[in-house]
This record gives sequence, structure tokens and C-alpha cells, in this order.
Amino acid sequence: MNVSTACAMAPGPVLAIESSCDETACAILAPEGTILAQRVISQDGHADFGGVVPEIAARAHLSLLPELVHATLKDAGLPPSGLGLVAASTGPGLIGGLIVGSGFAKGLALALNRPFVAVNHVEAHALTARLPGLVEGGAPFPYLLLLVSGGHCQCIAVEGIGRYRKLGGTIDDAAGEAFDKVAKMLGLGWPGGPALEKLAQEGNPDAIALPRPLIRRAGCDFSFSGLKTAIAQKLAPYGQTPLPRSFAADLAASFQQAVADVVADRINHALDMMPSARLLVAAGGVAANTVLRARLEETAQSRGCRFVAPPLRLCTDNAVMVGWAALETWAEAARRGQTPFTDIALRPRPRWPLEEMASRFTPTDNQPEAGSFS
Ligand code: KG4
Ligand code: ZN
Repeated sequence: MNVSTACAMAPGPVLAIESSCDETACAILAPEGTILAQRVISQDGHADFGGVVPEIAARAHLSLLPELVHATLKDAGLPPSGLGLVAASTGPGLIGGLIVGSGFAKGLALALNRPFVAVNHVEAHALTARLPGLVEGGAPFPYLLLLVSGGHCQCIAVEGIGRYRKLGGTIDDAAGEAFDKVAKMLGLGWPGGPALEKLAQEGNPDAIALPRPLIRRAGCDFSFSGLKTAIAQKLAPYGQTPLPRSFAADLAASFQQAVADVVADRINHALDMMPSARLLVAAGGVAANTVLRARLEETAQSRGCRFVAPPLRLCTDNAVMVGWAALETWAEAARRGQTPFTDIALRPRPRWPLEEMASRFTPTDNQPEAGSFS
């Protein structure tokens, strides 16, 4: 049974809410995955603090959600009674925002007497590439996922719905966090990734020698704090004096190249750890970086794999991915002959390891459970 047929088993369109960080998002998807409407509000109010302030984010979700949900339903041309499922990210993420978004979605589900599906935010990123028609050739299981955002930096073997193995992750900063911190040191504001990439276009990536943390080490863990410290050391002689633009550009380009080298090396190791992978999928805001994308494409090709990255608006936090993960979860339960479930009692969780997703389904003979995280 293909994905679309399986997902058609959902009782009607799904309305999904995303509120795990600083994006307030709502989307409505038809049961087979067609996007009927989607809206994302990237909250302002955090830039002055140089990062997301959890309490500000939670309050903003609370004030933005009612109008956002109303507008998204209007875009889709659906009355609330036309919905079949309601879904929300319930973790991992910032707990205040998760409480607001999932509380709102649960209230809607109860009022409409529709099932509520709790979605793991990382699982939603992991499954986005499977949205029908999104990437050429589709994204059949198994595949290797590189999730690189402000909060996540992981290599995950995606072997099926609920079957995920974390192959490696960061031991300190996430990739996006490193971009943001280095951008801040260069006086580029927040979020810094896009600004750093722009400045790097003017610079020479070979101009300044920087370390490549963990490169050629076994496994596929990441570390970025040494790189960040190296940048701070290069900047120290300048003190409070303004940086010459060409030096800042060279530093940005050299940093970006170091990150790309590290990520390419780690992906090569991850592919060694997952010989069945014929596809590499990138997700998360940092996957927007064109230098990194080019390196990932080159790395995948050199290993006989395809490389795909969903379009940027679906790589960064959004509610379409939440709706799609709910449909895939629903369909998987139906495919296994299990009673479709409602997660109304499930509490939001700031941490929610992907390995726990297997426990939503009872094992069947032809569907082995995912292995443990290493
Ligand atoms: O996935 P995302 O929108 O939000 C979460 O963190 O969940 O990712 C945001 C991160 C930020 O750290 C931002 O600086 C980084 O992605 N980013 C980039 C680029 N665009 C966004 N990093 C490097 N190059 C970019 N072009
Ligand atoms: Zn995310």
C-alpha cells in the first residue's frame, strides 16, 4: 500500500499546530497529504535579546494562535466541523509554547469531538520529505536524515514510521547555534545564519585556518564549540575596534567552509553506519545554506546516494510537517490493524527521544522495532 492510499484512511483533513520554538504555525492538510492552507508567523520580539526568550515565545503563541487558526481555516475554505483530526507538536521543545499549542489543539479536538494526535517535532522534520509530490522521486524508507537547525544537530536513520535510530548528534552546540553565535561575534545580529552566509560570499574560505572538530573520528557526532572558540581568538586582537570588512568576510567564509567540511565528513561516517541508505535528506534551517547544500549533494553523489532537501519553508519550523506526521502516524496504526488512537491525555514534553516513538505501535512479525539509540 503506498503512502497516499494509507493516509486516505484518516477520517478527514487534519488541522495542525506548531509552537515548539518561536514560529507560531497552523496548517490544514487533506487526508492524502495535499496542503489546503498553511500560515507561519515568525515571532519578532526576540532579536533584541540575541536569541529566543521562552516566556516571550509562549505568550506570543497564546495571543497569535486564535486568529491564526481562524485565518488558516478560512484559507482552506473549511468550517471547523469539516476537520477529521487535530494535531500539534507536543515535544521536544520549549515547554511553555508546547503547552499553549497542544492545549489549544486539544481544546479544538474536544469541542469538535475529533481525535487529537500528538506529534513529535523531530519526527515531523524527519518525515517531511515524504509529503506527496514534494521531492522528485519521493523519499522511500530507509533514508539518512541530517537535521541541522538552531536547536538540533543529528544524523538519524529513518527506517519506517516510528522506526528511528539516532546515529550521532552534537556534543555541544547545534549547527545553527554555532552560526548564530559566530554571527553575533561578527556583529551581524540574530538569527545570524543567513547574514553570515551573505557576508561569506565576499570572503575567501581558505584565508583563515580554523579547526575541523571531530573530523575523521569514528561515529558521526558533531562538535562546534572549538570552532567558535577559534573564531573568538582570531577576533581578540581587535578588541572593541571595528573589524575590517574584508577580514570579517574572510572569517565568515572560513567558518562556513569549516562547518561544511565537518558536516560532509560526519555524513560520510553516518552513511558507513547505514549501508542500506540510498537517500540523504537534509532538514532544519541550516539546510538553507547553499555552501552546505552543495557539499551534501557532492557527498551523497560520491556515495551513490540521492540528496534531497525540502523547500526552505518546509525545512524550517512549520505546521505542514506536523500535519503530515499525524497522517503518517494515523495511517501506520491503521495499516497495522490497530485502533486509531487519540492522544488527548498525553502531556507536552520538553524532551521526547525519537526512540520512544516505536512504542506507539505494537510490533508485528513483519515490522521489527527500531534499535536503541547509541
Ligand atoms: O529550523 P529553524 O528555522 O528553527 C529551529 O532552530 O528549530 O533553524 C533556525 C536556524 C538558525 O540558527 C539560523 O541561523 C539557521 O537556522 N540558518 C542558517 C541559514 N538560514 C537559517 N544557517 C546557515 N545558513 C543559512 N543560510
Ligand atoms: Zn524544528
